[in-house]
Amino acid sequence: APKAFIAPSILSADFANLGKECSNTIERGADWLHIDIMDGHFVPNITLGHPIVTTIRPHVDRPKEANGKGTFDCHMMVSEPKKWVKEFQKAGCDLYCFHYEAAIDSTAAESPEVKTDKKTSPKEMIKYIHDQRMRAGIAIKPGTNVDVLYDIFENSDKEEVPDMALVMTVEPGFGGQKFMADMMPKVQALRKRYPELNIEVDGGLSEKTVDTAADAGANVIVAGSAVFGAQDPAHVIAKLREAVES
Ligand code: DX5
Ligand code: ZN
Repeated sequence: APKAFIAPSILSADFANLGKECSNTIERGADWLHIDIMDGHFVPNITLGHPIVTTIRPHVDRPKEANGKGTFDCHMMVSEPKKWVKEFQKAGCDLYCFHYEAAIDSTAAESPEVKTDKKTSPKEMIKYIHDQRMRAGIAIKPGTNVDVLYDIFENSDKEEVPDMALVMTVEPGFGGQKFMADMMPKVQALRKRYPELNIEVDGGLSEKTVDTAADAGANVIVAGSAVFGAQDPAHVIAKLREAVES
């Protein structure tokens, strides 16, 4: 399996002190920063947007290689993922991870009067992200079957193939929720088909749940409350890494 990447979610950081929280987290051993972008529409919560990403970027050195230390992993829980690609590239995003559910044409299907140019197919999205010189990730919510990803990985041109799959292990929208172990068959199925793929899990990960995710084949571990709520975040980051590498 590929290398472990630990990606603390800054959703649980002190937003009044965000630059320092970000640099501290990298110093404490994190590989990436997971940045949760919510638009109050795709999910019932609002977090932050590209102006904030711009202000935190100078606090964390840019990664020296693809997926390197300091990668800004932007998890786009937004209804119009295409709309923000260029803004996030300019703000310093390295990995732009959009939701499959937001990229399919469900809105147009439900209401024909909705302009279809607001939706872009997953493959077009991935190519568009790559054109902006970022890595591309594709996320699925708990209710979405993993099978929908196979066509995207297997029947695409090179530039349409995602660099990462994100299997949500909570309903997106809030930090601090309970880990859904019943999502593990999705991770197992992806790992079996794609031995080298970066597979990220997000939601409810901690020292208690990380073994389950790592055993299933996840190698990119997001953790918000478990890291930022800890007395010793460096210790938690090291424990999460150990679980994936052992
Ligand atoms: C949920 C977010 C997660 C969340 C993780 O919508 O995508 O990244 O912040 O937080 P914890 O680790 O506290 O579940
Ligand atoms: Zn997230």
